[in-house]
Amino acid sequence: MWTSKELSELIKSKLGDRLLIVVSNREPYAHIFDGDDVKYYVPPGGLVTALEPIMKASGGYWVAQANGEADASVVNEKNEINCPPDNPIYTLKRIFLNKEEETGFYYNFSNKGLWPLCHITYTRPQFTEKDYETYKKVQEKFAESIAEIVQDRPAFVFIQDYHFVNLSKLIKEKLKNVITAQFWHIPWPNSEVVRILPFKNELLDAILHNDLLAFQVQYHAINFLDTINRFLEARVEYDTMTVTKDSHVTMVSAFPIGIDYEHVSQLSSSEKILNLRNELLKRYRLKDKLVAIGVDRIDYTKGILERFLAVDSLLQRYPEFIGKFVYVQLGALSRIQIQEYKELNDKLNNMMVGINEKYELNGWRPIVLIRANHSQDIITAWNGIANISLVTSLHDGMNLVAKEFVAARNNIDGVLILSEFTGAARELSDAILINPYYVDGLVEAIKSSLEMPLEEQKRRMSKMRDIVMKNNVYRWAAKILSEIFNFEFVESDS
Ligand code: G6P
Repeated sequence: MWTSKELSELIKSKLGDRLLIVVSNREPYAHIFDGDDVKYYVPPGGLVTALEPIMKASGGYWVAQANGEADASVVNEKNEINCPPDNPIYTLKRIFLNKEEETGFYYNFSNKGLWPLCHITYTRPQFTEKDYETYKKVQEKFAESIAEIVQDRPAFVFIQDYHFVNLSKLIKEKLKNVITAQFWHIPWPNSEVVRILPFKNELLDAILHNDLLAFQVQYHAINFLDTINRFLEARVEYDTMTVTKDSHVTMVSAFPIGIDYEHVSQLSSSEKILNLRNELLKRYRLKDKLVAIGVDRIDYTKGILERFLAVDSLLQRYPEFIGKFVYVQLGALSRIQIQEYKELNDKLNNMMVGINEKYELNGWRPIVLIRANHSQDIITAWNGIANISLVTSLHDGMNLVAKEFVAARNNIDGVLILSEFTGAARELSDAILINPYYVDGLVEAIKSSLEMPLEEQKRRMSKMRDIVMKNNVYRWAAKILSEIFNFEFVESDS
């Protein structure tokens, strides 16, 4: 298993005096006011969960958008703050955007446009020229900040996700001795879908300034090569997985992202979490119940409505579960300024109320919806409590919630129900794989999971735990480094 220490040594030996800079839109810590005090929280989402252990192992800079209302009050004159705040290892450089920039860049072009375009869940993407101009302008701001950090030193800039399609180009216009890699955390659709993207030629040309462009699964990497083949004049080689444009070569690869398995597993057995589990069991009166859990940002790609429908059908079809089965949905509010997200929130509320009223029995209710930004402790405690985890995304680049559930199951029991449309399904074939568009199938999957013999649960869970343990986030980072710095990747023997 790759460890933080091994990754840290690898980074030192391969990067030498090259500065490491990670760039993402979402910051790892956001500061907020609490009366006269300032406190911080970790924003939800798989990207932050995955990258924080890497930054802890490597040190360096993390450049991200400032998001907390108190962010400005804790940074120095360069807008920097040492992180993690309680035990500093790396520097977070915050980029402050005004309302207009945040709307055009984050809400509109990134999340009303590219997000639905790439996920294909039948939410119509929206693009305007004004938003695209703002999207580029904000990336220019990021590029300027990166140039300020780097100055004339050699650097490796590791860019995250769809918020920064033009960034490698903008960085390379300013800095000479810089290598860039970009990881695309969400799906890359086929070329027919990309066809509707206005500005696609400029965007595709820009992203090819990266030296490495990596995706979660091979299928998305191939989709990308097909997209370039179709729309740009460039040499696409499928056998070497490279694109050559204007004599610059971009390597295209697939590296499924992982989690810090060891950390989650140890946390799950800690006294703190065991106590928390007891507290939650008591508070929600779940001691003698069969519990299914869902942990999501409230997002239309996650298939949360489908789960509520499935709970309704389950109780209708199999009334023996009335009074015995509870579905707990942990939902973090997300992108709430976007109409589709607001509507989803309202719908979820109404559905929950309706289903709970329909089946309510002596104070028992089938759905508990806890809307908050849940800490890793809370999520780990619930993952320990649940008999079943429901991951029913309509489309998902990876989905680390599934991997966290597996890592938290130290008793090797429990069942993961997993959408076949997640990247995680390619690795976790011992989950119960389902199609979330087919709610009847989901209902049967929940029923058979609730009735699955312990032996079978253990057989499946132990296989999945081996995979999640081995393919952890340190191995993911080591693989990316081996590709970009061109050395042979060796499995860890520790
Ligand atoms: C997905 C994206 C990330 C994003 C996260 C949370 O995992 O791939 O880039 O950070 O969702 O979304 P948010 O809009 O809150 O950053």
